[in-house]
Amino acid sequence: MDNQLYRYMLRPALFRLEPESAHHLTLRLLRLAAAIPLVLPLLRRFFAPRQTGRPVNLFGLTFPNPVGLAAGYDKEGEVIPGLSSLGFGHIEIGTITPRPQPGNPSPRIFRLPPEQAVINRMGFPNRGAQSGITHLRRLSSKNGILQGTVLGINLGKNKDTPLENAADDYLQLVKLFAPYAGYLALNVSSPNTPGLRKLQNRAALEELLNRVAEERTGLLPGLGHGLPILVKLAPDLTWPEIDEALAAVESSGMDGIIATNTTVDRVGLVSPSASQAGGLSGAPLCERSTAVITYIVRHTRLPVIGVGGIMTPADAQEKLDAGAGLVQVYTGLIYAGPGLVRDILNHLNR
Ligand code: FNR
Repeated sequence: MDNQLYRYMLRPALFRLEPESAHHLTLRLLRLAAAIPLVLPLLRRFFAPRQTGRPVNLFGLTFPNPVGLAAGYDKEGEVIPGLSSLGFGHIEIGTITPRPQPGNPSPRIFRLPPEQAVINRMGFPNRGAQSGITHLRRLSSKNGILQGTVLGINLGKNKDTPLENAADDYLQLVKLFAPYAGYLALNVSSPNTPGLRKLQNRAALEELLNRVAEERTGLLPGLGHGLPILVKLAPDLTWPEIDEALAAVESSGMDGIIATNTTVDRVGLVSPSASQAGGLSGAPLCERSTAVITYIVRHTRLPVIGVGGIMTPADAQEKLDAGAGLVQVYTGLIYAGPGLVRDILNHLNR
């Protein structure tokens, strides 16, 4: 019922707004829900699946279910309690950069309804690490877990940090966010920060990840919990490039891969907005991201979080069948509404 409500009432209203304004409105609604007593427990009950499925143990963590929220929706962890009531097993906040930055000029999000897709060139707008820490400190989370929901924190470099100093940004962020994270995700795959994707090259990635691994070794004794670190890859890498990135991830002892980020590919799109610069997400990305997951699972033993174009429960099932241990959604929520999470869980728990 609520899916129809979203599709025929809420979505048309949101789609009349400029996409970024619609995004901010949904954030405001989630903040409001958390401020009114009893609303979150009601939402939690409303969005609960018919039956509790099996938890997923991965990276030394227990995820209450396999469906998470992908990075980019809640950049600084402002609405984690509200999001948690929608039924996500994990929530990845970020991308957060060390210092505040405005991101690219607006407009910077574009809907492509015929394709059930979105193009964004946000460029990591955020109020910086300290603001993220302030929000995380207010939560009653323990070791990066809030009422069972695992918190992932996605980290990126500032736009004006030269690429050769990128590791300093990531190291600083790893240190700052380690106490609050269930897991950390290193974003080296956004198409909207010039040069960032070059960090996926073998030598650059190996250098970055070795330094991150060393930092983690130093942090672990004081932390009291583990610190799984994942690397988020682009769908536009060639197979040899993926091989190189995987080799760097494996040799540095990182814990897994998030596959994939948005794509710069535009094949087969008809929407007028298709020519906008930025990263494409949603339905057209689904097949490629599943192919990348399949490839990683065949060629390594690294656990994978599968993300890209999950618009239906069947899409999520496909990614899990390809070998992903967990999945994440973002653009699917824009088109199908938050009931998508429960629909996926009901489908998986059949
Ligand atoms: C994103 N995504 C993203 N990823 C990331 O690692 N850091 C980020 O800050 C963002 N920001 C962002 C903004 C917007 C508006 C969108 C639509 C997406 C990418 C996202 O996490 C995911 O990898 C892709 O969108 C593919 O999944 P979906 O959207 O097809 O389910």
